[in-house]
Order: sequence, then structure tokens, then C-alpha cells
Amino acid sequence: MLLPIPEVLTSEQVSEARQILDAAEWVDGRVTAGHQSAQTKDNMQLPENHPAARQLGETILTALGQNPLFVSAALPARVFPPLFNRYQGGQSFGTHVDNAIRQVPATGHRIRTDLSATLFFSRPDEYEGGELIVEDTYGLHHVKLPAGHMILYPSTSLHHVTPVTRGSRLSSFFWIQSMVRDDGQRTLLFDLDTARRQLFAREGKSAELDLVSKSFANLMRMWVED
Ligand code: NI
Repeated sequence: MLLPIPEVLTSEQVSEARQILDAAEWVDGRVTAGHQSAQTKDNMQLPENHPAARQLGETILTALGQNPLFVSAALPARVFPPLFNRYQGGQSFGTHVDNAIRQVPATGHRIRTDLSATLFFSRPDEYEGGELIVEDTYGLHHVKLPAGHMILYPSTSLHHVTPVTRGSRLSSFFWIQSMVRDDGQRTLLFDLDTARRQLFAREGKSAELDLVSKSFANLMRMWVED
């Protein structure tokens, strides 16, 4: 499932973040790349332990915890502390798949990357290129979202970022270990959860709503892992 999550951050939060990011010192993005993806990765990053990254990361994680669409779609078990990158002057990231496992800095905890997320800080009219392209069996999906919006996509996919030929593209990127590892099962649960919310909003409680809710809850019991 490829899902845009609108307005994760408010415009005030975005402009505050932009001031902090503009003032920070950036390093070569290859620091967090695996051996193979380092050959195709060309961007700048904030160091993982940079105070700005930690502060903005907290803001993002708090916002996501209160975002019903994110929680329902991702069924998050663990979220990697958000990282930040910048593309400009023709920089790009060639086709790659994200590493399956990530060590959380400082704690040494491992997370399995089920979902990848990109949260945009630049407005689409501020830069040329810089599209995130996600490949799946339905073809190529081009993603370029308004500032403060986020795309959620399966980490199992091949993806790349096209060269930024004008302006600068700032974003945050991170991974989620879901309580439900399989994308197909997670999508089915998301559809059922969406259906029961909409049914309840339209008609209130009913025998049909009870059956959909029961199916949702029992599929969760079947598929959720620690
Ligand atoms: Ni990637």
C-alpha cells in the first residue's frame, strides 16, 4: 500500500522546522547507506545524533502518534528516530531497496523495516525534480507532496529519487516496524478499519457494524506479532 498522510505537521511546525534545518550543518548522506546503495546515493543528511534531528524527530513522532490515519495504516510497533536529508544541485538517489534491519542509534535496538516514510518539508514549487518514484507490480508511482505531508510505502519496494535540478528538497525519512509484517494483511486490516469507521459515522451502531468490528478484531488477533 502506497498511502499519502496529509497534514502530519501544521504549517507553523513546518516553518519552524525549516529554520532549524537551514541553520544546521549537513554531512554526506552516504553515512547511513548500505554498501550497495552508497554507490547510488548522492545527497546530504543531518548526522543521526544531531540535536536538531532529535528535536524535530520528537515533534514528528508525537504528531504521528496522534494521527488516526497513520496508526490505522501502519499499525506501528516501533518507529525509527526520523532522519533528515537534502537534495540540491542535481543530487539524486538511484534505484535501491532499503535495508531490512536497522539498528536504532544509542539503544542498539533492532527494527525490521516494514514501511518506509518520507515527510516533505519543501513546497513542490520550490524545486524541480526530486520526485520519489516507487515501483510495484502496478508500475511506477511518482510522489511529490505538499510541505507537512508524508508518504507511507512498503519497504519491500524498489524506489529512487530523481535529480533535483533547481532549488532544494528537504525531507525527513524513517522506517516503521509494523505489528503486522505482511503488506497484504496490513492493507486488508486498514480497509476493514476504514469501513467500520465510515459505517459508524453514517449509521451509528448496527448488527452489520458489529460483524465488521468482530472480523477486524479477530483478524488482528490472528496476525499481530509482538
Ligand atoms: Ni530508500
